Amino acid sequence: MASELDQLWLDGSSRILKRCEMSASELDSGFPHFADPETGAWTLSPQGDWTGGYFCAILWLDAHLTGSDNVRALARRFCAALGPRIDSRTVFRAFLFYYGAALGAIVCGDALARELALDGARALATTYNARARCFGLGEQAEEASDVGNCETSIDAVGPLCALLAWAGAQSGDERMGAIAREHALTHIEFCLRPDGSVCQSATFDENTGRLIRRYTHKGFAENSTWARAQAWGMLGYTFAARCFPQEPRLLEAAYQTADWWLAHAPSDLVAFWDFDHPAIPDTYRDTSATAIAAAALLKLSALTPEAERARRYRAFAERVAATLVRNYLTPVSPTDRRPPGILTEGCYNARIGLAVKNELIWGTYYLLESTLALSGRIDPLAL
Ligand code: GLY
Repeated sequence: MASELDQLWLDGSSRILKRCEMSASELDSGFPHFADPETGAWTLSPQGDWTGGYFCAILWLDAHLTGSDNVRALARRFCAALGPRIDSRTVFRAFLFYYGAALGAIVCGDALARELALDGARALATTYNARARCFGLGEQAEEASDVGNCETSIDAVGPLCALLAWAGAQSGDERMGAIAREHALTHIEFCLRPDGSVCQSATFDENTGRLIRRYTHKGFAENSTWARAQAWGMLGYTFAARCFPQEPRLLEAAYQTADWWLAHAPSDLVAFWDFDHPAIPDTYRDTSATAIAAAALLKLSALTPEAERARRYRAFAERVAATLVRNYLTPVSPTDRRPPGILTEGCYNARIGLAVKNELIWGTYYLLESTLALSGRIDPLAL
């Protein structure tokens, strides 16, 4: 008989998969970006913004789990719609082409997805700045300000490493992995504080790579810890450590950021949007940051040779994912009449008041990934 937790993972994942499958079959164009927490109605991004790949990724995982040709056809349709983004001048293409395309090749062996992911990776690789040993955000990066080739952030480090390392292995082009490794190492210097917390963003000298200033695009203050910066850092350094095991500094950075999260998470485990917001507990939660952290901890646990540390990360991630499924994934009570499968209380951008208590597609993806990993239906290191 399935244990209560096994049942929770199964229920949670099937609510997410059903909701997204239904949304995919109803949509003619555009990508689910964020959703109304009462009605579940999606706000779409016409071209996929930085998030469209997550919706494809949910469909790819669905196709992998069910073996359904119909779902696979839906995944292929959304994946193909990312094609026009290959030459977008933003490092956030890494999100689009890793989750939207490479994942389709990895879990479904899909040829169209493989070609698109390789094209996306090759185009992204041309924007590497060898003098600065990193990629700038690019002038079309989806941030309200401070974009361009001398600005960077922790956000895309993980998918960039995963995409370029995968593309390098597929194509035999060793430079792809090497430049991703340099980008991750540079973001230890740029973003990791001595106490293990993460500063989201940095300005650097385009010719030398010298760090000019640290700041934040979406956090509360320059010296505060935006919850997603910490979560992206955990995921980023973990992906990098998985891809480049010869660099012990990457695994060490993953441990530092994960340990900081474990030490600073609220007692009910769901992060507020910024760890240092003065109004806590009277401010927004961010379930998306919390879900990213859970997914990162599961990967890191699987990567960790030391049994006690690995157990600690997995046990924490299990408690976090259980809290999100029970208390934030609709329905959260027998009287909850909202459509099932909405992950409520994500906070996209509190600085500009955008989608501050909404479902956010990437939060939904990382909660799905976590439930699948916890139930043993995917290997967290395979994604
Ligand atoms: N730029 C990615 C994020 O808002 O988390």
